[in-house]
Amino acid sequence: MNIFFNSNNMEFHLQNDKISYIIKVLGTGDLGHLYFGKRLNHRENFSNMLQIFEHQVPYTPEQIDGVSGFALDTLKQEFPAFGTGDYREPAYVILQENGSRVTDYKFSKYEIFNRKPSLKGLPQTYVENDDEAKTLQITLKDKHLNSEIILSYTIYKNYPIITRNSNIINNGSSPLTLERFLSFNMDIPQKNYEFMHLSGAWARERHVVTTPINQNRISIDSKRGASSSNNNPFIALKEIGADEFKGEYIGVNLVYSGNFLAQVEKDHYDNIRINMGINPFNFSWILEKDETFEAPEVVMCYSDSGLNALSQNYHKFYQNNLIRGEWKHKARPILINNWEATYFDFDEDKIVQIAIKAKELGVELFVLDDGWFGTRNGDTSGLGDWWSNLSKLPSGVEGLSKKIDEMGMKFGLWFEPEMVNPDTDLYRQHPEWALSIPNRKPTLSRNQLTLDLGRAEVRDYLYEKLSKILRESKISYIKWDMNRNMTDVWSGVLEGKRQGETAHRYILGVYDLMERLTTEFPHILFESCAGGGNRFDAGMLYYMPQIWTSDDTDAVERLKIQYGTSIIYPISSMGAHVSAVPNHQTGRITSIDTRANVAFFGAFGYELDLNHITDDEANSVKRQIEFFKENRELLQFGTFHRIESPFENGFQNVSWIMVNKDQSEAILGVYRIHSIPNPGFDKAFAAGLNPDFKYKIEHEDILGEIFYGDELMYSGIKFRKIGIDTHDSKNLENLGDYSSKIIKITKI
Ligand code: GLA
Repeated sequence: MNIFFNSNNMEFHLQNDKISYIIKVLGTGDLGHLYFGKRLNHRENFSNMLQIFEHQVPYTPEQIDGVSGFALDTLKQEFPAFGTGDYREPAYVILQENGSRVTDYKFSKYEIFNRKPSLKGLPQTYVENDDEAKTLQITLKDKHLNSEIILSYTIYKNYPIITRNSNIINNGSSPLTLERFLSFNMDIPQKNYEFMHLSGAWARERHVVTTPINQNRISIDSKRGASSSNNNPFIALKEIGADEFKGEYIGVNLVYSGNFLAQVEKDHYDNIRINMGINPFNFSWILEKDETFEAPEVVMCYSDSGLNALSQNYHKFYQNNLIRGEWKHKARPILINNWEATYFDFDEDKIVQIAIKAKELGVELFVLDDGWFGTRNGDTSGLGDWWSNLSKLPSGVEGLSKKIDEMGMKFGLWFEPEMVNPDTDLYRQHPEWALSIPNRKPTLSRNQLTLDLGRAEVRDYLYEKLSKILRESKISYIKWDMNRNMTDVWSGVLEGKRQGETAHRYILGVYDLMERLTTEFPHILFESCAGGGNRFDAGMLYYMPQIWTSDDTDAVERLKIQYGTSIIYPISSMGAHVSAVPNHQTGRITSIDTRANVAFFGAFGYELDLNHITDDEANSVKRQIEFFKENRELLQFGTFHRIESPFENGFQNVSWIMVNKDQSEAILGVYRIHSIPNPGFDKAFAAGLNPDFKYKIEHEDILGEIFYGDELMYSGIKFRKIGIDTHDSKNLENLGDYSSKIIKITKI
């Protein structure tokens, strides 16, 4: 890993074993982008990569008087401005006192150092040792405004990853209003890319969508106050024809949990501009003298060998360099959550009965979900009154947690700190704490309002209430929920001209509260949640090592959701539970084995009353738990390879495999969505094995036992031909819709 600087040509080359990123300071002081991609040998001069015309650029403002061909509109840039000749989407727009939005930030200085500098109050990737990363910081200065923009680029020893972020400092005497200040921009020369992102909705989160890029602009965003289940703050450029195993991908993921914008724009010379950051929509930020504004970080990852390689680098990078705390590398306990088992309808006795049965079958952690506090017997009241509901739990959370602990199980609790129901003591005392506009009726969602976490007193109240319960009870897990999107975004503590800051200040407030609580209670395993997966992002993972992936627990829908989520986020971060059938979100019936075979690839648990399943199913649950305990290190921290996608070939089959570090063990999951009568010969393919290792597979449906890795990956694993014609009725369920197999592959 190195960062070269060539002072003759004013070029910076960030390089490691895998990638190169090249930047050039142009004669005008603008920052040009030359290259991001597979590693290049270093040379003293990469100016040939510049895109400068040798003649006058037709009908385009040119930047150097008397010199033809130098036009910002055709240049590849690092952090483009608005108003001086580049008509594409800018990285920033700054409103000045005189009403102008035209700025002139030019190169002023640079610094190169070992380590990664930290961001204040924002989630971020980090290194444990300074020699794992090198950083380049380039300062641009607008002399007239006396303001600086600092662009940071960090390259890592072990990953094809660059992280970037941008800061702006106002040293001038008049305030600057940031109307847009994105985290990064990059202009890529002509290449046949498609646009890939993860789109969805509640219960259908993070489905993979690919869109052609023409001479147009494609953008995804969130205006919801959360990163959202509609569009994850991630985009990738995909080389046409690339797939899981081959071809080029450039991924960009924002480490932020609020409103964002991500876009690509192909210009009239086929350059692709890509940029991302806090959504400028309904955003503004007033920067007074000597103040700094820091934009969140983006993680840019490059792969020239397919999407799996891109994802595997994101997974390892996030497991090692984003997620923190005691649980970072620890296999997670198998939990049972009572939400789908009881909803709001429970008392202590019912909870204890569920826990007893779960304990008997091997579950390790009991999680008490919504409904344990205040007057919470439905979703119309209680949020904000964070004390035990003694009519449901006579000995309170304290007593119940001790009972569960005495049974030899850990105890976990649900909170939704950021919200308030109007029907609560908290709201009656402090209606002004909820986001709402004076003299207007605020819009409810799920009968609740959002507390203004931009206000310090709100954060202090929540900190005090939550930490009291955490200190008094035996709690080893917290599910931190957030169940509505923002409306009426207006804060009582900000003056009128600053209201554009409210949504970002809210997110900074959430981060502050999470930082305080996770620091004070380092032993607690925190799981983030937001109406399922409405805030599944890298920002949250900095505070909480796992996230409830979706409220949709249907095994078949989960194949899509977990497949899509795994494009960026590690398997260890994805909460995945076995629930009851007919499934509560889809009405679909799948076997208890298929439900577990999908949930194994995640932070595994159950979410049903195990007293209400058949003895056969209970035996299956026992076996599932034993299997998971034996294999959880591998299943949560191995290398994940997606093989057959639910988004291709009409959603017939899905498969994926988890392989351990030394390739001596792997678990292949194979899922059939629709069965076919009189089928052909069925095969599945492994991936990620060592082609020269000999492996053993013991599975009743598989012909043969000992194979080399190459055969399993390239020729495939052949299943016994079982069809209706064989009259082999005992195996029929292996053929049916939603059947699945888990195949353990072990080196001999
Ligand atoms: C959200 C969560 C669920 C559950 C409910 C409780 O929908 O995603 O898992 O906790 O809230 O109200």
